[in-house]
Amino acid sequence: MKHLIDPTDLTHDETNDIIALAEDIILHREKYVTRMSGKKLATLFYEPSTRTRLSFTAAMMELGGNVLGFDDARSSSVSKGETVADTVRVVGNFADVIAMRHPIEGAPFIASQVSEVPIINAGDGSHSHPTQTLTDLLTIKRELGHIDNITIGFCGDLRFGRTVHSLIKALSRYTGIKVILIAPDTLRLPDYIKQDVCDRLGISYKEVSTLEEAIPDMDVLYMTRVQKERFLDEDDYDRVKDSFILDAAKMKLARPTMKVLHPLPRVNEILTEVDADPRAAYFRQVENGKFVRMALICRLLDWKNDARHVMPQPLNEFVDDDTLHCRNAKCICNNEDVKSKFYQSPDGVIRCYYCDSKVR
Ligand code: CP
Repeated sequence: MKHLIDPTDLTHDETNDIIALAEDIILHREKYVTRMSGKKLATLFYEPSTRTRLSFTAAMMELGGNVLGFDDARSSSVSKGETVADTVRVVGNFADVIAMRHPIEGAPFIASQVSEVPIINAGDGSHSHPTQTLTDLLTIKRELGHIDNITIGFCGDLRFGRTVHSLIKALSRYTGIKVILIAPDTLRLPDYIKQDVCDRLGISYKEVSTLEEAIPDMDVLYMTRVQKERFLDEDDYDRVKDSFILDAAKMKLARPTMKVLHPLPRVNEILTEVDADPRAAYFRQVENGKFVRMALICRLLDWKNDARHVMPQPLNEFVDDDTLHCRNAKCICNNEDVKSKFYQSPDGVIRCYYCDSKVR
């Protein structure tokens, strides 16, 4: 059985197959209207969402299936202390596939370890957001006609922005990808992404301090929101929240073919004056999210009993050392009764298996 917890759970071929199916769904909607007839999707959302939850709901409805779930954990037995693992064991009796968003990093992974039905990570803390990645890849493909050989700028909160981490990982499978990073000092891309993904997998990247100097070179500009909810101190948020703002003047410096993506929601990092620019692709990106989730649901259920589509083996070796401790308060191993697990990444750093944070 295949779950989608991290973008790299899908092989490059599986990723491209889902993108191709989404494109076919766009062209031939009528072929798919009963594809999920009699099937149910459970959406377990422990954290707020507009696009992800509603696009999953719309996706399943447009495939002729049904949807159940919760959008506020306080209305479920989680409020009585039920664990993620027990919740998923229970919900698997009622649904054929489960999409889960959780503020605790590693929660969807723990769900996948006990689930009898495919689990889709709909975003876990600052860690990973693989269905946004599929959305972004489909959008790049539809907007530019290709994903290989592009220069993509990531701007804003590159530290907590899980969509950025996931998209960089996925792009590492394509050829000729160049990445430009633009972020305030406190929100720079974590070293483990730079080392494990960019250095190890051969993505060329550079860090610059202004949008103006980098925008003329970009095929895609991926803007992100500074995520207030991830800051422990509001003053720290206030200091960086307006660091990079895309406006019509900066768009004048960009190529006529450049596309602006944003996972949304935005706060003020893209002024509304940019919305009418044909290069602003972020609302088209939202619709692509529904189509790619339709394709993903179809494929996860197509592949459920197919031995050719199983979860990949871990890339790195586990480290057995009782003195190690994950210090990430938002990691599942510090929030539920989950045995800590660690691995050594190629740079020699020991990391938590569930949240990838540096342990030693
Ligand atoms: N892009 C995204 O994840 O949006 P939501 O938080 O509204 O789901």
